[in-house]
Amino acid sequence: MTAISEFQKVVYDSKFRTLIDRKQIEKRVQELGKEITRDYQGKEPILIGVLNGCFIFLADLVRFVELDLEIDFIKLSSYGDEKVSSGRVEILKDINATLKNRHVLVVEDIVDTGLSINFLKQKLMNLKPASLKFVSLLLKKEKAKVDFKIDYVGFEVSNQFVVGYGLDYKQVLRNLPAVYVMD
Ligand code: IMP
Ligand code: MG
Repeated sequence: MTAISEFQKVVYDSKFRTLIDRKQIEKRVQELGKEITRDYQGKEPILIGVLNGCFIFLADLVRFVELDLEIDFIKLSSYGDEKVSSGRVEILKDINATLKNRHVLVVEDIVDTGLSINFLKQKLMNLKPASLKFVSLLLKKEKAKVDFKIDYVGFEVSNQFVVGYGLDYKQVLRNLPAVYVMD
């Protein structure tokens, strides 16, 4: 018997259902791009993508932002291969740019427990940016413990595990074109 990949399982066994389709994503990402363009007029922000999950969202978002901007990345410890958070955050790849006096916009794929974003807020505030804002494609509102406003949110989702459009399950399925709920 040939091995069946996670991708094939998801696609062929209908182990998923579309939560947000490509059209909805594109429309919302365009809106976020316009908002960011408006809010940062006259400024040259630096966008910090949180790897790995941000890569598709960030790539699409920046093409709707009509400003000079810089991009850098940070990589945090992920869930490993689990669907639940380990409760710890570690830096696997740090930012290279200097953030002091810069307008910093952190780009996340999803805020789940809020652990990562809380960690980032603390870490980045210490670097004395001129401003610090957050944009996340998705937010699990009922679950997230965040005591500050996430400035730009694409979609609020319920407490389910989602994949696609950059989001993984055991490091695969990031290349699915939309956002799906996995059973
Ligand atoms: P948090 O620290 O619990 O808010 O989770 C942050 C990170 O966990 C996100 O940036 C994602 O990379 C990952 N994550 C959380 N929920 C999901 C999910 O439903 N699907 C895939 N990845 C997720
Ligand atoms: Mg992430």
